[in-house]
Amino acid sequence: MSRSVYLNGDFIPVEEAKVSIFDRGLLFADSVYEVMGVLDGKLVDFDGHVQRLELSLNKLDMPMPLSRDEILGVQHELIRQNGLHEGLVYMQVTRGTAERDFAYGEGMTQTVFMFHQQKDLEQTTAARVGAKMLSVPDIRWDRRDIKTTGLLAQVLAKQAAKQAGCAEALMVMKDGTVSEGGSSSFYFIKDDVVVTRPISNDILAGITRHALLQLAETTDFRIVERSFSLDEVLAADEAFITAASTMVCPIIEIDERRVGGGQPGPLTKKLREIYFKNARETSV
Ligand code: PDD
Repeated sequence: MSRSVYLNGDFIPVEEAKVSIFDRGLLFADSVYEVMGVLDGKLVDFDGHVQRLELSLNKLDMPMPLSRDEILGVQHELIRQNGLHEGLVYMQVTRGTAERDFAYGEGMTQTVFMFHQQKDLEQTTAARVGAKMLSVPDIRWDRRDIKTTGLLAQVLAKQAAKQAGCAEALMVMKDGTVSEGGSSSFYFIKDDVVVTRPISNDILAGITRHALLQLAETTDFRIVERSFSLDEVLAADEAFITAASTMVCPIIEIDERRVGGGQPGPLTKKLREIYFKNARETSV
């Protein structure tokens, strides 16, 4: 069976899904995207992702091409047509197609596409034994709050990490503070306190982060949102990342130095459990 994808209103075989070479998403990365997790064929943190999509679009002067319910309908149909049980649904909205010009005109027709990716999210090696990170300079632009497809800095960061045998990059800003993972929010735990960078234009406001911090508030976890350095992280008891694509993933090594005991930490494991339980209960 061919993979079925969604493009501008139609569900079509992936081989037939084509966009113009004049699409501004291709020419200028003038586009935004979302990645949602799927567990048991249902979408995790769906409303959070749709809200962030709208925020990203608005910040770039683009309208929502589909309503929340329309997006849900399309994603459910993609999940159904492709028999997806666990994995991801990717959605991208570009400003549309026009003669190449940096400035854009009024009333463009947006390009909208979605596809699924099969991926284990719960029973993963990374969750069981932990993942390694490589620190790299954060060379991105100043609007990291917008989830655009302008991702070349992260491509380079994550490729460097991969070449060093690591699953994820840890991005360090010019001022020496850690921003986030290449495609994840980052946290460390010291003396039972979970520390993560506050939301600003320096990082993407992770939807998994938001859900997890809300959950942690209802437990006895102490969370502090503040800036921190790589040295602080290297002296931590535990570290972990979150993203729709990894959920809560323990980090056991950064730059070949062990974090804590070099094994997934107990608080991280607990947070992963709490997160999964809630994700299954609230998925749609
Ligand atoms: N990335 N920070 C960055 C830079 C990201 O790209 C992502 C997600 C996150 C975590 O956000 P969320 O919890 O909403 O997934 C943080 C997705 C998974 C990706 O680009 O594939």
